[in-house]
Amino acid sequence: MNHHFLVFSMLTVVAVTATIVSVAQGLEREILSPEQMNIKTGPTFLIFLYSEYEPCLGTLIHEQWILTAAHCFLPYLEIDIASKRDYFDDMKGKLTYHLSVQHPNFTRGSAENDLMLIKLKEPLKLNDQVKLAVLPNTTDNREGEMCTVSGWGWTWQVTYVYPDIQIDQKVLWFSAECCQQSQVSEAPVQVTENMFCAGSPSAPRQSCKEMTAAPILCQNQLYGILSWSKGCALRGDTGYYTKISHYTDWILKVIRTY
Ligand SMILES: *[C@@H]1O[C@H](CO)[C@@H](O)[C@H](O)[C@H]1NC(C)=O
Ligand SMILES: *[C@@H]1O[C@H](CO)[C@@H](O)[C@H](O)[C@H]1NC(C)=O
Repeated sequence: MNHHFLVFSMLTVVAVTATIVSVAQGLEREILSPEQMNIKTGPTFLIFLYSEYEPCLGTLIHEQWILTAAHCFLPYLEIDIASKRDYFDDMKGKLTYHLSVQHPNFTRGSAENDLMLIKLKEPLKLNDQVKLAVLPNTTDNREGEMCTVSGWGWTWQVTYVYPDIQIDQKVLWFSAECCQQSQVSEAPVQVTENMFCAGSPSAPRQSCKEMTAAPILCQNQLYGILSWSKGCALRGDTGYYTKISHYTDWILKVIRTY
């Protein structure tokens, strides 16, 4: 097992440990049934990528293609649309995949090129429950703009296998200097021009656990896939994203080729 994978695993373990502490303290409080949880059922481009290891989020960018992070290790992959319909369900309507294509220049020692495409066996039918995330049509930076990172996390009932809460978090796209200056000394990897960071300046400091590889949209275009974060990007902690606009050529080429 190499360094990079260890870092991701360790971050997760820290988050889980912290959550368990708060679970113990909150045990006397109410226990929510799945029905009581505020789970959105609106249209989604989010996909669950379940595996023997940590599950990852995928983002539907084409009827037959899902974009996720290359650092996701997904043996025995099971794919499903991220919606309440499938919550605690026996994975009915599970999607099957045809192949996955990791960015050829991704290495586990770095967060550079942290992208992977997964092709479904059958094209998905788009409807009012399932939609596509649109790739960016410009390489312009969105520095200083508010964007939305979307994903799923676990509430304090972290013992459940499935994530139980869908979150859309508004975050600020920080300047490149800010990303490098504020975080780089603590960062596990170097921040390059193929990445950007975003977060909420006043993120709360509670424990959390979330699915990795969450997408970030600015002006309704998919600008990033979460590569790593300190804490949870879905609660506004600074997340480091792969800059999708630098990879659209590669993405479209893979889709045309396979
Ligand atoms: C991977 O890196 C090589 C060498 O830098 C470069 O020529 C190639 O275009 C890269 N591949 C992609 C898909 O970006
Ligand atoms: C990109 O798309 C947005 C919204 O779809 C549009 O307003 C804008 O003009 C487009 N920009 C370019 C450079 O095509």
